Amino acid sequence: MDALAADILIIFERGVPNGLEFLWRWAHVLVGIVWIGLLYYFNFVQVPAFAELDAGARNQATDKLASRALWWFRWAAVATLVTGILILLAQRDGGGGSLLFASDYWRTYAGISISTGILLALTMFANVWLVIWPNQKKVIANARNVLAGGEADPAAAAAGRKALMASRQNAIFSFTMLFFMVGTSHFFTSWGLIGEASGGERALYWAITIVLLLVLECNALGLLGGTGTGGPRVIYDNHKNAIITGLVLVVVWYVVWILAFGAP
Ligand code: HEM
Repeated sequence: MDALAADILIIFERGVPNGLEFLWRWAHVLVGIVWIGLLYYFNFVQVPAFAELDAGARNQATDKLASRALWWFRWAAVATLVTGILILLAQRDGGGGSLLFASDYWRTYAGISISTGILLALTMFANVWLVIWPNQKKVIANARNVLAGGEADPAAAAAGRKALMASRQNAIFSFTMLFFMVGTSHFFTSWGLIGEASGGERALYWAITIVLLLVLECNALGLLGGTGTGGPRVIYDNHKNAIITGLVLVVVWYVVWILAFGAP
C-alpha cells in the first residue's frame, strides 16, 4: 500500500489527529509515569529497603514517606484513567464521532490492542483502590498507633501481605499493559488499519486473554490456595521473580496475539 493510501485509511478509521487529543495524550503519559513510576518505586526500592529497617524506623518511614507516596500513587491512577478516557473521547472516527462510541473501532487491530491495554490497566486500577489502598491504610494506621505508644495490630502484617501481592501483580501486568498501550498507534496497526480480524479470531484472542487475566488476578487475590509464600505465589516472592514473570508475560501475550491473528 502506498503512503497516501495508508494516510487515507488512518483518517478514515481513526480520524485526523487533533490538538485536544494530543493534549490528553501528553497529560495521560505524564500522570501514567507518576502512577507506574511509584509502582516500581514501591516494588523495586521501598519493599526491599523496608525489609532491612528495624520496626521503629519502618514505622517512621511508613508514617512520613510511604503515606505520601501512596497519595500520589492512587490519585495518579485516577488521573491516568480519566485522561485515557479523554483521549478516547477526543479521537474521532471517520464519521466525526468519538472513538469511545464507535463500535467498528473496537474490532480493528488498534481497537483490540487498546482494549487489551485498558483491560489490564483497569484491573490494575481496581487493585490500587480496592486492595492496595484499603490494606495500606491498616498498615499506616498501625504504624501511627505504635509510634503514639499504642499496641501493635496483629492484623497489620496480613494486610501488608495482601497489598504486596496485588502490588507485585500490578508490576507484572504493567509490562504487558504498556506493550499494548504504546503498540496501539506504533505497532499493531501493522496487522491492518481497518478491522480485518474475523469474529472467530477475535473470540479466540479474547477467550485466552480473559482466562490469562483471571488466573493471574485470582492468584494475586489469594484465591488460588491462600496468601502464603510458595506455590503459584512464587512470582510474588521477591521483585526479581515479579520482573521475570512480567517479561515472560509480554512474550506469552504476544504469542497469543500471533496465534489468533497470525504474523503481520
Ligand atoms: C487506566 C486506564 C487507561 C486508559 C482508559 C487508557 C487509554 C489510552 C488510550 C485511549 C490511548 C491512546 C491509544 C492510541 O490510539 O494510540 C492510550 C495510550 C497510551 N497510554 Fe493509556 N490508558 C490507561 C492506562 C495507562 C497507564 C496505566 C499507562 C502507564 C504509563 C498508560 C500509558 C499510555 C501510553 C504511554 C500511551 C501511548 C501514547 C502514544 O503512543 O502516543 N496508559 N491510553
